[in-house]
Amino acid sequence: MTITLIAAVARNGVIGRDGDMPWHVPGEQRGFKAATMGHPMLMGRKTFAAMGALPGRRSIVLTRDPDFRADGVEVARSLDEALLLTQDEDFFVVGGAQIYALALPYADRLLLSLIPQEPAGDAYFPGWPYDDAPAWRESAREDHDGWTVLTYDRVTPRTQVVHGPRIARGARQKIGASVAVMHEGRLLVTRREDNGLWCLPGGGVDAGETWSEAALREAREETGLEVAIDGVLAAYTDPNVVVAYPDGHHTQIFGVCFRAHPVSGEAGISDEVTETRWVTREEAAGLPLIPTARRLVPQAFDTGDVTYD
Ligand SMILES: NC(=O)c1ccc[n+]([C@@H]2O[C@H](COP(=O)([O-])OP(=O)(O)OC[C@H]3O[C@@H](n4cnc5c(N)ncnc54)[C@H](OP(=O)(O)O)[C@@H]3O)[C@@H](O)[C@H]2O)c1
Repeated sequence: MTITLIAAVARNGVIGRDGDMPWHVPGEQRGFKAATMGHPMLMGRKTFAAMGALPGRRSIVLTRDPDFRADGVEVARSLDEALLLTQDEDFFVVGGAQIYALALPYADRLLLSLIPQEPAGDAYFPGWPYDDAPAWRESAREDHDGWTVLTYDRVTPRTQVVHGPRIARGARQKIGASVAVMHEGRLLVTRREDNGLWCLPGGGVDAGETWSEAALREAREETGLEVAIDGVLAAYTDPNVVVAYPDGHHTQIFGVCFRAHPVSGEAGISDEVTETRWVTREEAAGLPLIPTARRLVPQAFDTGDVTYD
């Protein structure tokens, strides 16, 4: 699955004004049509209001409004849900500013029409300009009459989560342990360096270790937090999901998730974890979670019986 952000960007980073694009460049939109045709497109509710659903492409509209419905579109209430809807298909993120910012950490490619103007605006492309951005490299440049198409590729490809075959041929299986650390009604989630998605602290069980020892160690190594285990939350597997690493190997994870509470320390970051956050149930619902965490996270907020797969 390749995630491409496609946008027209002015020299000063502006992409919109008053809900519209502040320029008219004849012919520029032909490239957008050619690139996106046949692929799902993800857009914010405001961009959908201006653009509508376009023929020949699935339109997925992102909104927090539980009552939002519109003809000819699919609706997602979080980026996570949108990723589930696209499965492992290549798809395009078509704006606007909020949705570009949300999807940028997951993007593999940026396809940008540079408009040589400096208009006033109220919507900007995140992280612009990309000339010196360490994570991005310009891989193509195509001059047209009135605009230039720039392609940027992520310098090192992301680890991808693949939906599909029940068990990928040749997939290694990994025993994992994770912890749902709760404190004052909030759950600790971490964002992983290798795929940009959110999950619970955890990882592979080392030889000679019990699952709970692995969970405690992973929490300490990833977040610096000492935690104590209160019980088992769930056993987890998702036979439809494998993790595909850039070196070509596939892994499927089987694991146990423990309930825990913090004992000492403050949740921080590490080599693997670029962000830690204490979230409420509502905040967790809006996060793009790795598939193995999708069921565990809401379950962590419930105090029901222990469940096993
Ligand atoms: N130059 C270009 O290539 C280009 C392309 C597209 C758009 N644009 C411009 O960009 C501007 C619009 O951008 P915008 O940032 O104002 O709006 P937008 O990104 O199109 O849509 C924002 C809406 O998306 C929903 N949303 C945002 N974050 C969400 C999340 N985490 N989970 C679920 N839903 C979420 C919310 O909808 P609800 O309010 O319904 O909850 C929010 O109001 C316009 O000026 C447009 O012309 C330019």
